[in-house]
Amino acid sequence: MDGRGYFATAFEFLMTKLSTSLLSWYRQNARKLPWRDHPDPYAVWVSEIMLQQTRVDTVIPYFEKWMRLFPDVVTLANASEQDVLNAWEGLGYYSRARNLHKAAKLVASAFNGQLPRNLTELRSLPGIGRYTVGAIASMAFGMDEPTLDGNLRRVFARLFDVDESADSPAGEKILWDLAAQNLPKGQAGDYNQALMDLGASICLPKNPRCLICPLMEICEARINGTQELRPVLKAKKAVPHYIHAAAVVSRVGNPTYVLLAQRPADGLLGGMWEFPNGRVEADPAKELTKVLNAAYSLKVKRKEALGTIQHAYTHFMVTVHAYRCEPVSIPKDKSLKWVRLSELENYPMGKVDRQIANKIK
Ligand code: ADE
Repeated sequence: MDGRGYFATAFEFLMTKLSTSLLSWYRQNARKLPWRDHPDPYAVWVSEIMLQQTRVDTVIPYFEKWMRLFPDVVTLANASEQDVLNAWEGLGYYSRARNLHKAAKLVASAFNGQLPRNLTELRSLPGIGRYTVGAIASMAFGMDEPTLDGNLRRVFARLFDVDESADSPAGEKILWDLAAQNLPKGQAGDYNQALMDLGASICLPKNPRCLICPLMEICEARINGTQELRPVLKAKKAVPHYIHAAAVVSRVGNPTYVLLAQRPADGLLGGMWEFPNGRVEADPAKELTKVLNAAYSLKVKRKEALGTIQHAYTHFMVTVHAYRCEPVSIPKDKSLKWVRLSELENYPMGKVDRQIANKIK
């Protein structure tokens, strides 16, 4: 056998060993997850969107409730944005819910209520990127398609001891190629999910459990002792910390209503409701009235402090100081609305505002 033939055969042997060892481990150890009992492409789609940036344990109750509320694409397409955002409240990254809703409307109108089985058409739907296409195509349609999420990135970076940074275009390309090259024909759905489970239970970011890993013998990083150094990631930028002042405005003599503001449809927490607020430079109590006037032309009189809430978003931290306020002049503006205290839960809010709402109920 010539040298090239030998290496090709050795490579194939490792590939086969990877998928056979992994799949036999998966048959014994697959997590029982509610979307795995649903061969339905819609359920796979919903679960994959919810699972982006979110842990499995957090997603399970949301997924189950979602499937009761919106059991199919057409029900979701016909739901109001408020109901959709309410069902998503607490999961974060709300553009995922808005895109899922938009995509459901498109699937209902242009694809007869069925997710298309075509990669290009799938990719054209809002919120469906390369990862989700690969996940849906392999898990729901049995197609031989790779996918790559955070868990798979880490597993491949270690299995092949990739020293290129995983968050650079070159590193991304290497990892996607590895995900595609090692795919066992006809079993991509299980293979991709097995890698996810391995990443979540054994190939952990810190202290990977190499000694019980089914791929221990072929993992190049373990052999080279570099598993803790993979994946290589670029240093993260420091996250900024913002201070906000927020107003719980209620009418004198009629404290059953409070004023809410609806955020613009796009961007962070798009379309969700909040207590009127703004970023301050230094002193929230002093600057509150100025920032509300600037942001909403809303004039209020500040009364007592109601407390402080901290929250970490992906790219920044925020500390919000909330104050009870009395209205002085309220502009006629569609984005401002008097809402009964007893109906606050019907208005989808981010975590900070839901905590303020819970304080005043
Ligand atoms: N993370 C993302 N998708 C997943 C899936 N289908 N199973 C387990 N973890 C996941």
